[in-house]
Amino acid sequence: MKTSTRPAFTNSQATRTLGHVLRLLQPYQSRIAFALVALFVGSSINLIFPEVIRRALRPETFSLILDRLPVFFGLLAALFVVQGGAFFLRSLLFGLLGQHVYDDVRKRLYTSVLSKEIEFFDHHRSTDLAARLNSDAALIQDLVSVKLSVILRYGVQVVLGTVLMAWMSWRMTFAIVASVVCMVAISGIFARKLRAASRLFQTSLATLTSFAAESFGGAKIIRALGAEDEALSSFVAQSTEVLEAGQGRVRISAAFSSGASLLLNVLLLGVVWYGVSLVLSEKLPLSDLAAFALYGSIVAVSFAFLVSSYAEVVQSLGGLDRVFELWDPIQSKTDTTTEVIGEGGPALLCTDVTFAYPTRPECAVLEGLHLSIPGGTIAGVMGPSGAGKSSIVQLLLKFYGHQKGSITINGQSLLDISNSELRTKVAWVPQDPLLFGVSILDNLTLGTPRGTREDIEPTIRAWGFLDFVFNLPEGLSTILGEHGAQLSGGQRQRIAIARALLRQPHLLLLDEATSGLDSDLEDKVLATIRAVLPKATIVIVSHRLSSVRGADTVFLINEGRVVEQGTHDELKQAGGLYAHYTARQAVG
Ligand SMILES: Nc1ncnc2c1ncn2[C@@H]1O[C@H](COP(=O)(O)OP(=O)(O)OP(=O)(O)O)[C@@H](O)[C@H]1O
Ligand SMILES: [Mg+2]
Repeated sequence: MKTSTRPAFTNSQATRTLGHVLRLLQPYQSRIAFALVALFVGSSINLIFPEVIRRALRPETFSLILDRLPVFFGLLAALFVVQGGAFFLRSLLFGLLGQHVYDDVRKRLYTSVLSKEIEFFDHHRSTDLAARLNSDAALIQDLVSVKLSVILRYGVQVVLGTVLMAWMSWRMTFAIVASVVCMVAISGIFARKLRAASRLFQTSLATLTSFAAESFGGAKIIRALGAEDEALSSFVAQSTEVLEAGQGRVRISAAFSSGASLLLNVLLLGVVWYGVSLVLSEKLPLSDLAAFALYGSIVAVSFAFLVSSYAEVVQSLGGLDRVFELWDPIQSKTDTTTEVIGEGGPALLCTDVTFAYPTRPECAVLEGLHLSIPGGTIAGVMGPSGAGKSSIVQLLLKFYGHQKGSITINGQSLLDISNSELRTKVAWVPQDPLLFGVSILDNLTLGTPRGTREDIEPTIRAWGFLDFVFNLPEGLSTILGEHGAQLSGGQRQRIAIARALLRQPHLLLLDEATSGLDSDLEDKVLATIRAVLPKATIVIVSHRLSSVRGADTVFLINEGRVVEQGTHDELKQAGGLYAHYTARQAVG
């Protein structure tokens, strides 16, 4: 399990990411305006003090102040109180803003990921996606609550301070501004390195988190295989990668911030030296030089903070890019309003279908598949492992698109059938159905939220294959462990079948859905399914003859095409592959 590819973080990505952040802030304009006023007031007050000192040092104002010392200090104290209030408001408003935006990002990211095409999940590990929702998305909160406010605060101080300095001596200010412009240009180079280093760090951290989550989830398998040492050494190696990536980021960031601060201080020293020469030649009053130096130091410190905050913002943008690249929900391209599946089970027709998975486009899984299932009948689909049976089911669910041929439902191309119609009228039960760590009742009503306990309980009691649920002390309210871990495989399958039946589908796709049941129970479940859905079209994919022999037509699939088809008796008589299975499985 190695770290995935590490694309460099380009300037256009940074701009796109910044654009996303600004759009996220748009709904909060009025709050931001308040926060900005508080920020402006607080930061401007800082800049009043050098001016106060400049005036106090002048002989004509010095004596005036001496006469009114209590008033002078009272005014200063009042300024501090205003500044404190402004500081409080600024921290509060930016802090709350950060929380809101983080909440928006979490919700939007979750929605975006859930609405991705199914092939997206073939490329992405669920644990990596969870890491993006967690550690990567959290960067936005810090960015908005802390970094944005810091940048604006010091930005205001730098701009206002520079204006005031220029008002006192434009020559010295010009020297400073020119040097700073050069510095900013140099820092652009650092910024690019820092963004790349930051993305590398977030990616390797997410890989490490995924690995840990997978090994904790698979702890039983690791224990049974005695693979603890292997898992540990893999973890240690990946953790070291994270350490190295983190160290790389820290080195660049430290060099960036300290270098900028050093340069700035040296610059300031030179300017003050120049200022002293102006004072000595009586071109500048000493009080102005003192005030200028104070403004200079405020601007220098603010600028140094600005540079290091900029470095941190760049790092955050690098990590946030991992969030925004999953951002836009993919809209279904094929939603229509005409209803294709009416009353009763639909007829299915696959004509000359060729299909390869997007992850392996060169390997055709289905090749020239012809399959015709009349509406309202039961079709059994059998065949060796890897023949393409589950792939047919996934095409019918529109999880993937086929490359050649046509698939129609009731004569209408599958591509023209809306996803919403498909999801309401078709139910699918895979071999290893996913149950969630909520109550059995909530698992049963997933996708049919209108179903209440009063509606459901008598129904499933009558079906008779979920008796085990009612023998549990908490019955339908029993909370299942992660992925339904507290149930046996067959019990999980029965809940999943019940979940599908409760949706009253017109087309039911069972993919090895009864593989964990003994023959008696399987017969009972299949008979119940037919009784509950007397008109539906039912597709039963199975390795076991016992599951398909009651079907109206059995299709035998091999290497991506139908090689035999007919009733159980016809195929048994035909003496082909199906007859071979009959002999092996000793079914009469
Ligand atoms: N998501 C996927 N991406 C790429 N290839 C896949 C994917 N799922 C299945 N395949 C490949 O497609 C082929 C057919 O797989 P499929 O799951 O349809 O077989 P199957 O007949 O259902 O087998 P089994 O009886 O073992 O369930 C296999 O070679 C498999 O490796
Ligand atoms: Mg399969």
